[in-house]
Amino acid sequence: MKYYRFLLPAFLLLSIIGHAQIKLNSFSPGARWPDDKGVHINAHGGGILYNNGVYYWFGEHKVAGNAGNRAMVGVHCYSSKDLYNWKDEGISLSVSPDPASDIAKGCILERPKVIYNKKTKKYVMWFHLELLGKGYSVARAGVAVSDKVTGPYQFVKSYRPNPGQMPFYPELTPQSDQLNCLSPANKSDGFFCRDLPGGQMARDMTVFVDDDGKAYHVFSSEENYTLDLAELTPDYTGHTGKFIRIYIGHQTEAPALFKRNGIYYMIGSGCTGWAPNAARWFTAKSIWGPWTYHGNPCQGQDSQITYGGQSTHVLPVAGKKDAFIFIADKWTPKDAIDGRYLWLPISFKGDDMEINWIDKWSLDTFEK
Ligand code: DGJ
Repeated sequence: MKYYRFLLPAFLLLSIIGHAQIKLNSFSPGARWPDDKGVHINAHGGGILYNNGVYYWFGEHKVAGNAGNRAMVGVHCYSSKDLYNWKDEGISLSVSPDPASDIAKGCILERPKVIYNKKTKKYVMWFHLELLGKGYSVARAGVAVSDKVTGPYQFVKSYRPNPGQMPFYPELTPQSDQLNCLSPANKSDGFFCRDLPGGQMARDMTVFVDDDGKAYHVFSSEENYTLDLAELTPDYTGHTGKFIRIYIGHQTEAPALFKRNGIYYMIGSGCTGWAPNAARWFTAKSIWGPWTYHGNPCQGQDSQITYGGQSTHVLPVAGKKDAFIFIADKWTPKDAIDGRYLWLPISFKGDDMEINWIDKWSLDTFEK
């Protein structure tokens, strides 16, 4: 009986210790990253929206094991003011229990990204969607909206963008000259022409809002052979039909776009499933191109496999000049929930960029 007198205080003490979170003040790429509850952050293939002084990280909520490669829960959201410490804001878009829904539990829902539309005052989430039981064959873009940044987001629609539309050519380049659907010049053109009536395939993706408020959707298309960069409608929930094809035939996945000193930068990866490969970067003076390929931005050991990761987003740090963070996923498809995050600072020499591995770093790096 006397032991019972100690049980309650001991239990209280243990639960206080269990919940006391260490405040983080640095990034440790590849390490487990505890949220405010001490649980490893579950937001893979993610993107970050900076909104009213707060960063919101949206990503795929994965479950344990192989099943985690399909969407069993939805899109998870976290918030942070300092980028090191993240508060769990819960599930912002839930998959549906209805197997007939486009976003049925068990579908594939990847790389969610959220942008804010100042005119409609809505938060708009885009993602790559594959319908339940169809593998990666459907290749659609999905969109959901919310009045509140953390959600709940309401699913709007999913489809293949730009049916019946030919690419926009700001200047006729030899490449664009060659797109002739009566006799496609290569594999990629062939896939483009095949999909012309029903809309182009849309897999790995990102969204980007330019300084003038126009938004763009960048996605792997044509069986992943080519990247499309497509304009979104003024409310950001559809495509206008204006788009270009980038780096045709070279299989670019995992696009992440940012702007610095008036130049558009894009980082992407090759196409090797969940296995890492070398990153690649591009620049353009106009969003409509031409986009110039510059090779691999990563330097040093393991740079040929992006240090084990694959790009998902580049985050401009608010209030700091020239401060951009390269964000990649280190996938663990056998136990998807254990996927790690690689956050690394980007360094610039003139307009050239470089990424180097650092075991541990903080935002002070950008002041040096
Ligand atoms: C690589 C993509 O970048 C991921 O988002 C995912 O689709 C895997 N391929 C699936 O193998």
